[in-house]
Amino acid sequence: MKRIVVLASGRGSNFLAVASAIQRGMIKGRCVGLIVDRRGTQASVRAEEYGIPVYTIDYSGFPGKAAYEEELQRTLGSLAPDLIVLAGYMKILGSSIIREYTDRIVNIHPSLLPSFPGLDAQGQALEYGVKVSGCTVHFVDEGTDSGPVILQRAVPVLDNDDPGTLAERILFEEHIALPEAVSLFCQDRLRILGRTVIRLDEQSGRI
Ligand code: GRF
Repeated sequence: MKRIVVLASGRGSNFLAVASAIQRGMIKGRCVGLIVDRRGTQASVRAEEYGIPVYTIDYSGFPGKAAYEEELQRTLGSLAPDLIVLAGYMKILGSSIIREYTDRIVNIHPSLLPSFPGLDAQGQALEYGVKVSGCTVHFVDEGTDSGPVILQRAVPVLDNDDPGTLAERILFEEHIALPEAVSLFCQDRLRILGRTVIRLDEQSGRI
């Protein structure tokens, strides 16, 4: 069983999607901890309901990013994760952590990357006037939302959408995409070839 650690900053609906897929046996893995970067998150309440240990590393209690990242890396080390899932984690991970866990960190982003990386992806999509958007699960590299894409799900952008309605339509797909990507990782079915992530066949273990 793979050891999964989730990092979140707020509401935690993606964390919940992963936790519930684990509970239903759809992901062959164990969530050994939720790490949050602030106090009082909805994600922590949800983790407690699932009996998942919560580690609060309150960013505001550290003198700076370096000290915070050190503590985060130490906590991660103590949890010995096979996979780190960024599920609405609102900080850029430092390069030391990314290097330690190369090809073992995934992120969910609410756009079809490489379009609209960074903050307010839904607002960016509306501003640009695209007709299709969606979500992307990708491996994390040292850039912003720039690592190899594992899977994407698309949604239409409607003429009367505002950032809230579009975000809601995308979020529904996120809750399918993230557990699916985590499940594939836990079955050792993902291979990274350059920028391309290959999904191995369940039966044969081949492409
Ligand atoms: C999601 O839209 C995710 O893609 C983005 O932040 C949001 C987090 O939502 N990175 P939640 O905390 O998982 O409910």
